[in-house]
Amino acid sequence: MDLRPVVLGRHNRGTDRLETITIDVAVLGAGGAGIRAAIALAETRPKLKIALVSKVYPMRSHTCAAEGGAAGVIKSDDSMDHHFHDTVGGGDWLSDQDAVDYFIREAPLELLQLEHWGCPWSREANGSVAVRPFGGMKKQRTWFAADKSGFHILHTLFQTSLKFPSIQRFDEYYVTDLVVEDGHCRGFTAIEMRSGQMRFFRANAVIIASGGAGRMFPFTTNGAIKTGDGMALAYRAGVALKDMEFVQYHPTGLPNTGTLLTEACRGEGGILVNKNGRRFLQDYGMGPETPVGQPVLKTMELGPRDRVSQAFWHEQKKGNMVPTRWGDCMMLDLRHLGEKKINERLPLVRDMATSYLGVDPVTDPVPVRPVVHYMMGGIDTDIKAATSLKGLYAAGECACVSINGANRLGSNSLTELLVFGRRAALSALEHLDRGASAANEAAVNAGANAAQARLRELFNRTGGTETIAGVRKEMMATMEEHAGIYRSGEGLENACATLSALRRRYAGIELHDKTNVYNTDLLQALELGAMLDCAEAVTVSALERRESRGAHQRLDFTARDDQKYLRHSLARYRGGQPPEIGYSDVVITRSPPGVRDYSGEKNAGDKNAGEQK
Ligand code: FUM
Repeated sequence: MDLRPVVLGRHNRGTDRLETITIDVAVLGAGGAGIRAAIALAETRPKLKIALVSKVYPMRSHTCAAEGGAAGVIKSDDSMDHHFHDTVGGGDWLSDQDAVDYFIREAPLELLQLEHWGCPWSREANGSVAVRPFGGMKKQRTWFAADKSGFHILHTLFQTSLKFPSIQRFDEYYVTDLVVEDGHCRGFTAIEMRSGQMRFFRANAVIIASGGAGRMFPFTTNGAIKTGDGMALAYRAGVALKDMEFVQYHPTGLPNTGTLLTEACRGEGGILVNKNGRRFLQDYGMGPETPVGQPVLKTMELGPRDRVSQAFWHEQKKGNMVPTRWGDCMMLDLRHLGEKKINERLPLVRDMATSYLGVDPVTDPVPVRPVVHYMMGGIDTDIKAATSLKGLYAAGECACVSINGANRLGSNSLTELLVFGRRAALSALEHLDRGASAANEAAVNAGANAAQARLRELFNRTGGTETIAGVRKEMMATMEEHAGIYRSGEGLENACATLSALRRRYAGIELHDKTNVYNTDLLQALELGAMLDCAEAVTVSALERRESRGAHQRLDFTARDDQKYLRHSLARYRGGQPPEIGYSDVVITRSPPGVRDYSGEKNAGDKNAGEQK
């Protein structure tokens, strides 16, 4: 084994040449969106050469951690129109409505496709696919597989992908740079972790499906791999990051680890109470109080995530939280559901609460608190998953199409990654069919070599004064303090200044591990660089949005301002400077901005201007 220092990109055979792997389409990320894209490519064009390149073994992708389910209209009392209005109203009218229409139409088809590929959806007594209520959805349309929906979806996709010999997997590769030439994405460079070898994936189309960036924050449901790598790659290559200020808190995380306790707990009838035993959500426009023990729609515990998390914040200010050894919490009470139902519908929840907190939900209420869960923002794409860079597509959480607007409804994201994973693949194929423009291969190779040189510089750097852990810790603390559920102009200005300083300090980090094999020091340095870029995009976009909408709540601008801000923000990379913020129009087709109403009245949640009383 060659453990000589600084051999990054150099074969142990002694050559310094960057090895090139030539394929048609390279997919970055092997979670739900990436595998769905790869399958669509392989199914449509069996002769295509496809590289599926992933930082982790596919079954370790974060899709695996999704619990509650995937939304798609299937029952006779539901309609596409209902799903449309729930999604648009839930997103506080920042969703592009043409994209939402495409999404809701494709949603049931994708979920049925998974059924045909063997996904073990939970069933009703009559054998039909079961659905459960979910936050902000006024009809039951969330398909689920107990509370391990993401696990089963990912397994189904993975096993299906194995049928296609044209999908070549490159597991445990970290992608470092997109290679851009003449306004086209020509592939990317990546490090094979087990050898330290750098390779150039020369492709005529690239699909980024690398997930979100929740690890910018210290307390998150996100696995350690969700470090915004794909977002940062596209951003640095000139593609804007859209609506980055919208960061979703999930109301019910385990208070010590941040692990998700699925919204399905409430979908199945669980309730949230404060220290006085009061179902406090009725005090925040999500009443009236509904019967305990029966699943209800629209109100109380099934309000949308932004509103429910904001209610926690207010209760904390009022001193109504329950003090626990893990900090202030609310109590999630499932006891009335009974052991049989908990075991059948929420087995993972019971397992996690018991293992991590020592609390059995069958006998005791579980302490919970809001936790960073999802980025509504991401790589700016159009409705066909195309970015502004020719040959580059994005899908899943890393992308912003945008169907989620200012607040995603729970269970729309698993479906989104299927619908837009497939759509990205179809768009990449259309791009290939148009005939990729002739590339200047010398310039392309020079781009790849420059990426290698940049890595070498980081690898070889000496005399550094900063540590990865030190910079990362300060970034996380800043994000938590100033970019959380409620924000202020002053706090965001502080955050922007701190992040600018951290970006400069990042240039002074030095690796302490100079070996080739699974060099986690190197990987963490690269991940930190990606997170810093994403974090700046979040805070600068949030500072510039002087209104409150969905998950972006400003203490100094408390109202929604459609005149000025019914627009998508676009953060553009400027190298050593904070990003430049521009805006683009929101596509409104049939639901003009209106009032979000979760009071339980008829039509609550989708009351647009035309329908307001
Ligand atoms: O609560 C949950 O199961 C999360 C679902 C989602 O984020 O879509």
